[in-house]
Amino acid sequence: MIRPMMRVNTAVALTIALASLAACDQLPGKPALRVAPPTLDTAAGFAGFYSENCAGCHGADGTQGPARPMRDAVYLAAVPDDAMFNMLRNGIEGTRMPGFGGNRITAVDDAALTAFVKGMRTAWGNASATAPTNIAWAHQPGKADAEHGRELFDARCVSCHPRTQPVGSSATVSGSVTDPFYLRLVSDQHLRTSIVFGRNDLNSAPANMPSAAGPFQDGNGQRVDGALSSSDVDDLVAYLSGLRSSPLYAPPTSAAQSKDETK
Ligand code: HEC
Ligand code: HEC
Repeated sequence: MIRPMMRVNTAVALTIALASLAACDQLPGKPALRVAPPTLDTAAGFAGFYSENCAGCHGADGTQGPARPMRDAVYLAAVPDDAMFNMLRNGIEGTRMPGFGGNRITAVDDAALTAFVKGMRTAWGNASATAPTNIAWAHQPGKADAEHGRELFDARCVSCHPRTQPVGSSATVSGSVTDPFYLRLVSDQHLRTSIVFGRNDLNSAPANMPSAAGPFQDGNGQRVDGALSSSDVDDLVAYLSGLRSSPLYAPPTSAAQSKDETK
């Protein structure tokens, strides 16, 4: 059992020890210990911001989240800096992708966002990575042949993405991408990005989402080789986009965003 007097003595000794430590710290000439936090344009600084703001949707480590992987050098090399900056600053209208800059209450300033994009490229990018197909990233609304898109879908996609999920079957590897309600949640750009770059982070799945370079599967699940062309991608997006039951669902996501909207 510890007697009260001893406890007081211990406390006094500790106080003296701490006080002398603090005093030592102020000896003249001792360099101050100041470690600057890593800046956002470095791999380390970028990682903190990413895990706080993006990881929940784009995956811890930039892979295997519900939203597309960011740790994809081919993808990062294909998206121009200004487009990346705009998506991060303003979000993507009508989707769950939030904006982090602009007039939002919690806005990150433009310089910090620019630095963040640099940090992400430093960590996960590779400027010389080129898509096997060289198909441009940006979706351009315009003339496309949705009927041809439907034919392509039947010839290359439907066995992985059945239009309706067969009840009680475990044969399917992926969800329906023709469901009108799914299509209300994702933009045409998201459809294009998914088709052009695939999902290189799902290697453990029974079958990966291929990039536009393929290989694909025919209606019976047999391998089909041959890359999609840029206009094939346009046609597939036009087909899927035409199946939306109504325009993109645009939820008021936060008070911060409504502040922006009332401007
Ligand atoms: C070998 C199987 C396979 C083939 C072939 C395939 N996909 Fe996929 N696809 C996947 C998997 C796996 C995913 C990711 C898991 C998921 O989202 O359900 C995916 C994801 C997607 C997504 C993104 C879903 C989302 O919002 O996250 C789209 C869009 C898509 N595929 C369209 C297509 C189109 C169009 C084709 C034909 C050109 C195609 N896929 C061919 C397996 C495949
Ligand atoms: C609440 C979930 C969520 C958070 C948080 C989030 N995103 Fe997203 N992000 C999405 C969704 C969903 C999409 C697809 C939107 C669409 O349909 O176009 C997306 C799209 C994107 C795209 C465009 C993909 C393309 O098609 O080329 C980029 C780039 C991106 N996000 C980066 C980020 C970064 C970086 C952060 C953190 C600073 C972040 N996102 C935070 C959900 C999120």
